[in-house]
Amino acid sequence: MELIDGIAVSDKLKNDIAQKVIELKQKGKKIPHLAAVLVGNDGASQTYVNAKVKACEKVGFDSTLLRFSSEISELELLNEIDKLNKDNSIDGYIVQLPLPKHIDEQKITQAISPAKDVDGFHPESLGKLVLNLPGFLPATPAGIVEMLRYYSIPTSGKHCVVIGRSNIVGTPMSLLMSRNATPGNCTVTITHSKTQNLSEITKQADILIVAIGKPEFVTADMVKEGAVVIDVGIHRIEDKSKKSGFRLLGDVKFDEVAPKCSYISPVPGGVGPMTIACLLKNTLLAVNS
Ligand code: GUN
Repeated sequence: MELIDGIAVSDKLKNDIAQKVIELKQKGKKIPHLAAVLVGNDGASQTYVNAKVKACEKVGFDSTLLRFSSEISELELLNEIDKLNKDNSIDGYIVQLPLPKHIDEQKITQAISPAKDVDGFHPESLGKLVLNLPGFLPATPAGIVEMLRYYSIPTSGKHCVVIGRSNIVGTPMSLLMSRNATPGNCTVTITHSKTQNLSEITKQADILIVAIGKPEFVTADMVKEGAVVIDVGIHRIEDKSKKSGFRLLGDVKFDEVAPKCSYISPVPGGVGPMTIACLLKNTLLAVNS
């Protein structure tokens, strides 16, 4: 079993990006500028957004964090989006999800200018992904593809099973794995909460990508010997023995699943850092779009 080291792979990507920023500076060109919109005080969202802003600093990007109260109205937020769309100093921006219940996430996502949609959540970005046209790929699925590439994990003709069909991960992931590309060319099965006999299907997976959002959902009996397992989940579980007061768990019961795998991504230190690196990659792309 080999551990997929998301920190090492993301460091390599970030170093390449930092080098490109140095070249832009030398040529007197604009430094990429990412803005992040955070609504409310959700602890996990704050952690993720702070990590994104910190990663910008690390590669030499400019960054702006815009924080709003959870009481902000949908209209007020749409006005802020409009300002970001018109602000020429900002190349790309994200609106951290989830948003408070009174705000329609689809409405917000669709208000983001496609040219600044570095999360790749806008229908235009997703349409380009479906048609295999260049565009912003959603950062988590793109990060998983980069992990598979880095470890030269064979994908062509393999059976990839995706658990979860979210707009952010499961659905774009299944499209990326099936398209005619390397990594890609998989036969893909997408499964979800209504799937019957799930473990019969997951046991057929050469590559199992788990984005179901339930801690330790995938157990050893659901995994084929020699499978590649990618764990997208991240859950804070209360643990008074930790200084932070919590520990992190994935969607995969790591200790029992890992011995069966050829490769497995851990939580933390797997997919999470790759999401951030691919967001930076998209921001670099946004400077020229
Ligand atoms: N919430 C969970 N993952 C993400 C992400 O990749 N981007 C945004 N904007 N919100 C998220």
